[in-house]
Amino acid sequence: MTVTRKPALPFPARDRYPIMCYPMPWASPDHSTVADQMGLDAPSPARGLKAMYMHIPFCQYLCGFCPFVKYKQDTERIRQYLINLKREMDSYAAAPYFGGAAFGSLYMGGGTASILEPEQVADVVGHARRVFTFADDAEITLECSPITVTEDKLRQVAAAGVNRVSFGVQTFDDEIGRASDVAQDGDTSRQVIGWARSAGIEHVSIDLIYNLPGQTVAHVRSDIDSALAVGVKQVTMFPLSVMPHTKLFRDVNERKVARIGDLDHELELARAATDHLGELGLVQTSVPDFSLPEVTYRHARIHFEQFEDLLGLGAGAMGTVNDYTYVNVAELKRYRELTEQGLPPINAGQQTPESEKPRATMAMGLRMLEVKRATFVARHGAQPEDLFGPLLAGLVDRDLITVDDEGVRLTSTGTLFGYDVAKAFYSEQIRAVGQKLAESLARKRDVIDLELNASGGAA
Ligand SMILES: C[S@@+](CC[C@H](N)C(=O)[O-])C[C@H]1O[C@@H](n2cnc3c(N)ncnc32)[C@H](O)[C@@H]1O
Ligand code: SF4
Repeated sequence: MTVTRKPALPFPARDRYPIMCYPMPWASPDHSTVADQMGLDAPSPARGLKAMYMHIPFCQYLCGFCPFVKYKQDTERIRQYLINLKREMDSYAAAPYFGGAAFGSLYMGGGTASILEPEQVADVVGHARRVFTFADDAEITLECSPITVTEDKLRQVAAAGVNRVSFGVQTFDDEIGRASDVAQDGDTSRQVIGWARSAGIEHVSIDLIYNLPGQTVAHVRSDIDSALAVGVKQVTMFPLSVMPHTKLFRDVNERKVARIGDLDHELELARAATDHLGELGLVQTSVPDFSLPEVTYRHARIHFEQFEDLLGLGAGAMGTVNDYTYVNVAELKRYRELTEQGLPPINAGQQTPESEKPRATMAMGLRMLEVKRATFVARHGAQPEDLFGPLLAGLVDRDLITVDDEGVRLTSTGTLFGYDVAKAFYSEQIRAVGQKLAESLARKRDVIDLELNASGGAA
């Protein structure tokens, strides 16, 4: 009998946490000096367009699979929250740093940004446009849960300037969706995508989750076919994470739904998705994103490819301004207190130490699949090999990256393990901060509980 040995995997597990920023924020701020630490008193150096993110941490339905920090919809809380969000905008807009700066994208995410009434979306977008400068063709994204939109609402938000929507579809398959507690059925998802397009929002993106209980290669291929059939232009593929505090976790443990596929199954689905998206003409543009070739997802490019500022606004939002990386307080009461005092509502943040900057270029850049040599040299005055020679050589030997005159690029195996490869560039100190953050999230402790001080963080 012939025994076929499976090829060894390059990593014992697969990291599923997207890289949002580097280094992760660790230092507790003195709120009265944050603006100084960010260097907001001096005009921004003349650079490219910046990106803005606004977090709307409310949901109409709390999906059983979702581990993110969010609050149940409440009209009065949302009304108050938007007042505070505008206060936060105003305090940044008043700073000389943002005086001459222009934004190329605004991304309203959540939670569920589409929980807002269309008038509230118009108010917030209008306020941002009044107090900051936006490029005429700025990309304005509204993240939507399908159950929260109507045809009329999509028309009204389009009239308010929204020109890109991202729907959390997860799957079009009703049986698979029901088992994982996805809020809507497949027909609803198809319908809202059609409404967005008829409202004139040409750029429609969706999130799909793979390795949901019971999902096979055929299901994943069919989800992708369904998306393309209704005119979706970009697909973000997330492998399922089952976190201990979720309903899905309990349902799996109590055997109410099928077991979750193991890593081999997850990788089989990931490969099948990548192949099928490629067959249908979509190009992979980052570790999770696939787009039709004519589509540009500007928000991600500004921050992860051009390394421009991301001004994160709202409770729990992350951002990087002038090399100061931060995460806002997630608790609504504290968010309100700080914004009412005109203080940046930051929970943790710090200027990026010089020693961490080249690591940031590699980790953030590889999220977008490659780091161009010219970009690296312009940012750090050295070749990638000068700073990371042995690490790069080791990753090349393991067939995870290629290194040539153009730069450093993930291979197909490297792309499958994209966050593991990118995180290989983390320093020991930042790895420890990331570990603490992941543990605190796994215990469903809010990010506000993360009490790390500067001595526990990077040098
Ligand atoms: C934070 S949600 C915001 C999107 C919006 N609320 C919605 O659901 O339409 C962003 C995406 O995270 C993904 N997500 C949520 N829980 C997940 C999990 N347990 N594993 C993998 N991806 C998940 C889903 O694809 C979801 O659309
Ligand atoms: S998946 Fe979206 S709508 Fe569902 S609970 Fe998470 S953030 Fe809310």
